[in-house]
Amino acid sequence: MKILILGGDGFIGSHLRDELSKDECNEIIVVDKNTLRYKEPIENCYTYLLDLMEETDWYNFKEIFDYYQPDFVFNCIAVANPDFYIKEPVLTFEIDFSLNKKIIDFLVTRSTPFLHFSTSEVYGKIQTTEKYHEKTSNLILGPSHKLRWIYATSKILLEQLILSYIIKYNIEACIVRPFNFIGYDIDWIPSLDMCENEWKPRVYSCFMDNLLKNEYLQIVNPGTQQRCYCDIDDAIKGLIAIMNNWDKCKNRIINIGNPNNETTIIDLAKLMIKKYNELTINEFNKGMILVNSELFYGSEYEDSERRMPSINLIKRLTGWEPKIDLENMIEKSIKKTLEWIKNW
Ligand code: UGA
Repeated sequence: MKILILGGDGFIGSHLRDELSKDECNEIIVVDKNTLRYKEPIENCYTYLLDLMEETDWYNFKEIFDYYQPDFVFNCIAVANPDFYIKEPVLTFEIDFSLNKKIIDFLVTRSTPFLHFSTSEVYGKIQTTEKYHEKTSNLILGPSHKLRWIYATSKILLEQLILSYIIKYNIEACIVRPFNFIGYDIDWIPSLDMCENEWKPRVYSCFMDNLLKNEYLQIVNPGTQQRCYCDIDDAIKGLIAIMNNWDKCKNRIINIGNPNNETTIIDLAKLMIKKYNELTINEFNKGMILVNSELFYGSEYEDSERRMPSINLIKRLTGWEPKIDLENMIEKSIKKTLEWIKNW
């Protein structure tokens, strides 16, 4: 199969690339504006460094697309860091909505089936049911002046556009809502100067940064907010299961996550401290401090209190279920972060 991964150097895209290229029958075409996670050349993988926001690169992308004529597309292009939404709301909209709309409009002209990434963040701020269901849960965001929600708003608008295109143009697409995937390489670690971002990474990388510097882990108020973390290896299997069961999965919205791995952010911090101290000789002897969200992110920040997915739909359609529990996921991720730092 010829599979195009847009954003194939990002966290999810690069794991998809590594997994899909293990099958020698696949040809993988990667398009990304970065090569941060590029390791060594893979024989059946062709990488193109293109920034699709740039007109010339967009033109080249269309040529490359028509040259390969992929059978399937994973569209992973997105920014997914809450601190970025607040510091760069316009760019968040331009990437998460405008650029993605341009990509989808193009895919429609080529009638190529695609998997599009939405986000668990569309479910919003307050969980009113025990688990979020794709077809029945309401999407409850905060007030407009809280710019954190520009990301979710962009994603919701695009979801509705894709669903409208499915009816109008008879295309094949699947929208996935990922729930907090975690892996050692989810984001950059600021103290290692891996890149010059002026915004903060997501919580795993923030806490890793604190641990490595032996400084207090900063818990954003109130600390009792909850997330369900899903190991990236489990998540990748779920995404590939959707592609492999396309006739059942196409034209739907599907949650991917691990409802068994729910934790508060305080408990996540405690677990990371415990695992870090078990895995390294550089003892971490500080602790945690509670910080005000306005000081940490700015006044436009608001948080989701809780996000727990129902995964009945993906289980029924593909048989997929996540296997890796929270403790193993954190241990595995910290181990890999430490190994990676050693070889860096
Ligand atoms: C983010 C994105 O907005 C989602 O779209 C994305 O799908 C999701 O991550 C994901 O990884 O799947 P969120 O879970 O809020 O959502 O992102 P984090 O930045 O990882 O924050 C998680 C929680 O940790 C928040 O309550 C945040 O306030 C807290 N936090 C973060 C801390 O307490 N300390 C830190 O140093 C960083």
